[in-house]
Amino acid sequence: MRAVLPLLCAAACLLGARAVSPSEKFHFKSWMVQHKKTYSSGEYHHRLQTFVSNRRKIHAHNRGNHTFKMALNQFSDMNFDEFKSQYLWSEPQNCSATKSNYLRGKGPYPTSVDWRKKGNFVSPVKNQGGCGSCWTFSTTGALESAVAIASGKMLSLAEQQLVDCAQAFNNYGCKGGLPSQAFEYILYNKGIMGEDAYPYQGKDGTCKFQPEKAIAFVKDVVNITSYDEKAMVEAVALYNPVSFAFEVTNDFLSYKSGIYSSTSCHQTADKVNHAVLAVGYGEEKGTPYWIVKNSWGPQWGMNGYFLIERGKNMCGLAACASYPIPLV
Ligand SMILES: *[C@@H]1O[C@H](CO)[C@@H](O)[C@H](O)[C@H]1NC(C)=O
Ligand SMILES: *[C@@H]1O[C@H](CO)[C@@H](O)[C@H](O)[C@H]1NC(C)=O
Ligand SMILES: *[C@@H]1O[C@H](CO)[C@@H](O)[C@H](O)[C@H]1NC(C)=O
Repeated sequence: MRAVLPLLCAAACLLGARAVSPSEKFHFKSWMVQHKKTYSSGEYHHRLQTFVSNRRKIHAHNRGNHTFKMALNQFSDMNFDEFKSQYLWSEPQNCSATKSNYLRGKGPYPTSVDWRKKGNFVSPVKNQGGCGSCWTFSTTGALESAVAIASGKMLSLAEQQLVDCAQAFNNYGCKGGLPSQAFEYILYNKGIMGEDAYPYQGKDGTCKFQPEKAIAFVKDVVNITSYDEKAMVEAVALYNPVSFAFEVTNDFLSYKSGIYSSTSCHQTADKVNHAVLAVGYGEEKGTPYWIVKNSWGPQWGMNGYFLIERGKNMCGLAACASYPIPLV
């Protein structure tokens, strides 16, 4: 009889059968208030289960020896499949099709760079909401910075124009797209409007671009490919922030702080599913990292930013980087 008990326990643990405790229920209710969530009574149970399972994973991760910490955030009532269908590219973006036209020099480069500290060169973190439009935020973020560096003017540019109008350049609105293709669209379309004139809706719509209201323009597009992460370092060190894409996997959603590093993501161009903006880089205790601006609002991660390990093509981040040369 005695020998059977541990087995039963092991089986129950494997099945995840640990019941939801009153304290966990309490935490869920506070989280619902904090994030202004309401559910139908049928959905409540499913969300509670998902939240509790995410919360237990976060605590287990934080007890382990990892280079980054996790925390609850606005995504904590979703499992990864639900998250993926709302926030990430539903179609893989074959960014390996992009040819490189970046010529890398020899260096050396500063050991750390942070465009947020060099002046008013990085716009505030925005929030894409439940639309796979990360690529539009990576695009506007890069162009906003490039314009600010070239002209001293900080603009806020219209993601919704890219969602609605950039289809002819292989972009798919809320289903995904690539910053390099969006820069090409802005170049050939002759400009992009401001956030105020073309406000963000977070869903697909019809194109309402008015050429006379364009406030930012692109002269050329620089693509850095062939997994040349050193070229990304050089571009960020010498010129401006750089747009890149990488593969988001389950463990990234609850990122809170520290240097993100993963063994579960892939490293190839056909697996990347999220575009962001590298605004700097550095090194901590021998681990090099990128400083990255995300588009999940200022509450997520470190005030909307995250650090990711640098120098290993982590999660395919060097597969398809690019930046625009603004016309100012
Ligand atoms: C934690 O991880 C670091 C880096 O991988 C390692 O150097 C250190 O020895 C680990 N510490 C413990 C307590 O396992
Ligand atoms: C991606 O593009 C490259 C270059 O055009 C092509 O060789 C490759 O077959 C494409 N891969 C997929 C999965 O479409
Ligand atoms: C840069 O990438 C875009 C999108 O993939 C492509 O259309 C463009 O031709 C590339 N530019 C160069 C100079 O290769």
